[in-house]
Amino acid sequence: MAFLLVQCHVSSCAFIARHSPLICSSRLQDMRSLFFAARSFSGASSFASRKKGGPLRIHASTIQAGGITISREDVVKEDDPTNNVPDTVFSKLGLHLHRRDDHPLGILKNEIYKYFDEKFSGKYQKFDDLSPIVSVTSNFDDVLVPPDHVSRRYNDTYYINSDTVLRTHTSAHQAEKLREGCTHFLVTGDVYRRDSIDATHYPVFHQMEGFRVFSQAEWEAAGVDGTSFALQDLKETLEGLAKRLFGDVETRWVDTYFPFTNPSLELEIFFQGDWLEVLGCGVTEPAILENNGRAGTVAWAFGLGLERLAMVLFDIPDIRLFWSSDPRFTSQV
Ligand code: DAH
Repeated sequence: MAFLLVQCHVSSCAFIARHSPLICSSRLQDMRSLFFAARSFSGASSFASRKKGGPLRIHASTIQAGGITISREDVVKEDDPTNNVPDTVFSKLGLHLHRRDDHPLGILKNEIYKYFDEKFSGKYQKFDDLSPIVSVTSNFDDVLVPPDHVSRRYNDTYYINSDTVLRTHTSAHQAEKLREGCTHFLVTGDVYRRDSIDATHYPVFHQMEGFRVFSQAEWEAAGVDGTSFALQDLKETLEGLAKRLFGDVETRWVDTYFPFTNPSLELEIFFQGDWLEVLGCGVTEPAILENNGRAGTVAWAFGLGLERLAMVLFDIPDIRLFWSSDPRFTSQV
């Protein structure tokens, strides 16, 4: 799955980090103490209960997501051959780990928010409660994923029916937000991919999407073409973010491919002895802007996996721990 690599594949850095002395910026120290002080996942959704030492459990047959009530029957359809959503995945909808301020994912999301708010005087609109149930069009077609791309397969994506999926990435919201007129936005949410479970893979994880649109006047004033202008801004913005999270680290840019951007890049940082991939990004394909009411502008976009970064930042050795209340996780000091 070429363009879907960046999110939950945690490198060995997480394990190195766990056994190394802390090499952190004061920012990261702040985040870490916030995390370790928070310890327990209070603020859990009222739909979830916790058995001591066990995973979060769901009892309800309806959940709230994206401001709407969703029932099990809306999502799990055992006798519909076009549906492949199991109960275990339905039970994760609406848990909103990224919206809990004392959960590592919430702490990290808030830290990224702070960076954007401070650097850009609150210009970025933030969305973290958009429904994870989206159309195939939004998830794939609107962001130019080719019709035969592997990520569309039933083996890779959770289909509610042939037109509707559990979003596989937060890029699914790019087009809708553009059509609403947003020019600076961050979308955070739970995303779903059929995957076997191990220490670094889980069928549900969390991403943050960033997007910024520039007008012609902006690049003309700088005397460069639109793509160079957006690329320069993208690099500055994301290098700043990486340093905010990881301290004064070395960064490098690696060329890659995403259907929705050109050029497409990955940002890597040198952290605790290894190059670590932090996010994917690029200059938005003009067709996405044209198709959604923004012809004549240029934009950049990025997507990052929250678990992947939180595992490194907080020394979390196994992705499954994000879903548990195991005291070995919640009482780390
Ligand atoms: N959607 C990509 C994924 O899930 C991540 C991503 C990469 C988002 C580049 C972007 C981007 O907006 O420009 O792997």
